[in-house]
Amino acid sequence: MFDRIKRSFIRKGLEDRHAQRLLRRLKGIKPLSGVEIEVDGKRMLNFSSNDYLGLSNHPLLEERATEFIRRYGSGSTASRLVCGNYECFELVEKKIAELSGRQSALIFNSGFQANASLLPSLADRETTILSDRLNHNSLIQGCLLARCHIEPFRHNDMGHLEELLKRYRARGKDSRILIVTEAVFSMDGDQSDIDALIGLSRDHDAFLFVDEAHSAGLFGRNGMGLTSWKDVDITMGTLGKAAGSFGAYVACDTEVRDYLINFCYGLIYTTALPPSVLGAIDAAMDLIPAMDREREELFKMADHLRNALQGLGFNTSTSSTHIIPVVIGDEEETMALSGWLENNGILAVTFRYPSVARGDSRIRLTLSAAHTWEHLELLIDLLRKWSLTEQPAGG
Ligand SMILES: Cc1ncc(COP(=O)(O)O)c(C=O)c1O
Repeated sequence: MFDRIKRSFIRKGLEDRHAQRLLRRLKGIKPLSGVEIEVDGKRMLNFSSNDYLGLSNHPLLEERATEFIRRYGSGSTASRLVCGNYECFELVEKKIAELSGRQSALIFNSGFQANASLLPSLADRETTILSDRLNHNSLIQGCLLARCHIEPFRHNDMGHLEELLKRYRARGKDSRILIVTEAVFSMDGDQSDIDALIGLSRDHDAFLFVDEAHSAGLFGRNGMGLTSWKDVDITMGTLGKAAGSFGAYVACDTEVRDYLINFCYGLIYTTALPPSVLGAIDAAMDLIPAMDREREELFKMADHLRNALQGLGFNTSTSSTHIIPVVIGDEEETMALSGWLENNGILAVTFRYPSVARGDSRIRLTLSAAHTWEHLELLIDLLRKWSLTEQPAGG
């Protein structure tokens, strides 16, 4: 009896999701080579991974991960403030800081953990966070945990952001304002205007926080993101996507780093990343600055794919990068297209509510330097067939 009451919300939650055809399940994945994987035993070409530079199975990352395990062991045994701050952390942080043109860097265990704990450490109850309307869930969770006033600004709308900055700055010169945004947006693949953000943050004395999860490794000087070598208070970059490893980093000045070591609970109260991961990150940082040719080819392929999709009548939203959404709108139709591609050996995962707004369902295509032009033609050909013979595409 009690059992039924205490667990009824779980059953109802699952039943509701099932009824709305939004129930998710984990698939069994086996990586094969490059961009090929096995999904529930079926071989497929992957257009859904964030391994943008194809580094996740690079031999140098594997070698350095093994070397770091041999040198430091398989675990770091404690949080960095206790006794987990092995020399490899500071070594890797020094590399990241130098490549990003910043005084310092600080490794976090994941991008989600960084975002969810950085924002509460930067805000007090009187703070206002101005947050782009399309920010990732980890930033939204960080905002909620900050327990301060959150004001979303219209996506990428610098005019609206300025209006809000003026309004909140007028409340008193001592009030703390944080601008929180992404450099490349995860669902639409469009870019922020970093120079405009820096200008606004300077003019209105607002702290600027930029999430480079989908741009670190791909844009800017040394490939370290759109904020690389720029005057941003905090850059948060992830290491599980283009860097082919795991974890995240903050690039900032030494004062901000010292502050975070003292006030950011997501760094203080967690076991430090294992040395193997640090080894892989270290190797990625040696490779990324020299990958201009791969980045150039990746963006050429992205332009080609986007143009081809638009030519077929698909809606690619505001994408201008290697992330290309195919916005269908209707959930059933999006699922049907994804299922049809899957039947034809292409993994192109759907993103539906609550990952995007209702009625904004899409397939999110992500390109990697490990894709070839033949892979692209295969995908375009299938989408052409779909648009001609199956359902009207668009959105
Ligand atoms: C914009 C953005 N920030 C942060 C994260 C979380 O990063 P991580 O996967 O390292 O937890 C993601 C993950 O997809 C993301 O898209």
